[in-house]
Amino acid sequence: MKKAFTVLAHRGARGHAPENTLLAFDRCIKAGAKWIELDVQLHDGELWVFHDLNLESCTDGHGWLVDHPCDLLRKLDAGDGEKIPFLREALETIDRRARVNVELKTAQGTAAAVATLLREFLGRGWKADDFMVSSFHLPELRDFHRRMPEVPMLMLLCGVPLNLAADAQALGAGTVGLDLNFVDDALVADAHQRGLKVFVYTVNEAEDVKRLRARGIDGVFSDFPERA
Ligand code: G3P
Ligand code: MG
Repeated sequence: MKKAFTVLAHRGARGHAPENTLLAFDRCIKAGAKWIELDVQLHDGELWVFHDLNLESCTDGHGWLVDHPCDLLRKLDAGDGEKIPFLREALETIDRRARVNVELKTAQGTAAAVATLLREFLGRGWKADDFMVSSFHLPELRDFHRRMPEVPMLMLLCGVPLNLAADAQALGAGTVGLDLNFVDDALVADAHQRGLKVFVYTVNEAEDVKRLRARGIDGVFSDFPERA
C-alpha cells in the first residue's frame, strides 16, 4: 500500500495568489488543498496572518510590522486589494474546508492568544486535528502544548540538531519540519524510529517531491501544491 503523503499549501499556495491572504486561502481550497499553512504574528493585541518582519515585500507599507498600529496596518494593500487578515478571519474563511497549520512566528504571548482562539473554534465545531501548530521558536511551541495538548504540533528545524529528532519527541510534536537544504537521512530515520512524521519546506519542483518521497518523507509544504 502506498504511504500517505501530505501536501500543505504554503502561505495559502503563494504561487497562485498574494501570500497569507483570504483570497489565497479561498483559491487554494477551490483548487483542492486539504491543508493550508499560514504564519501568525501577535502585535497590538491582534493575531496577524503575515510572514515577514517588514512590510515592503508583501504590502504597500514600509518598515517593520511591529512599528505600526492596528488601524494603519489594516489600511495596507497585501496584494490584489487584500488586507492583512487576522487569524480569526482566516479561520472563518477556511471554514473547515481545509485543515490549518498555524505557524507561530512571534513569541511572548502568541501561543496563549492562538490557544484562546483555537479553543473558541473548537467550541464552534472544529476538531483538534483540524489544526496543527508549528514554530521554529521551541519555547513558544512548548507553551502552546501545555495549553492545548490535544492539538497536533510540528516542530520546525532549519538545520540538523545534534540530538536529531529527540527534542521533537520530548516536546510532544508528532511531526518534524525540515528545510529542503537540510534533509538528512539519519535525522529522517531517527524521527521515524520515534514514531514522528517528517515534512519538508518549501518544495516547489515535482522532481524534488519525487526524490523526497523516495527518501521516505511524509509531506511537503509547497507554493504550488498541484506540482506535489
Ligand atoms: O512551515 C514551513 C515553512 O513555512 C517555514 O518557513 O519561512 O516559510 O515560514 P517560512
Ligand atoms: Mg511558515
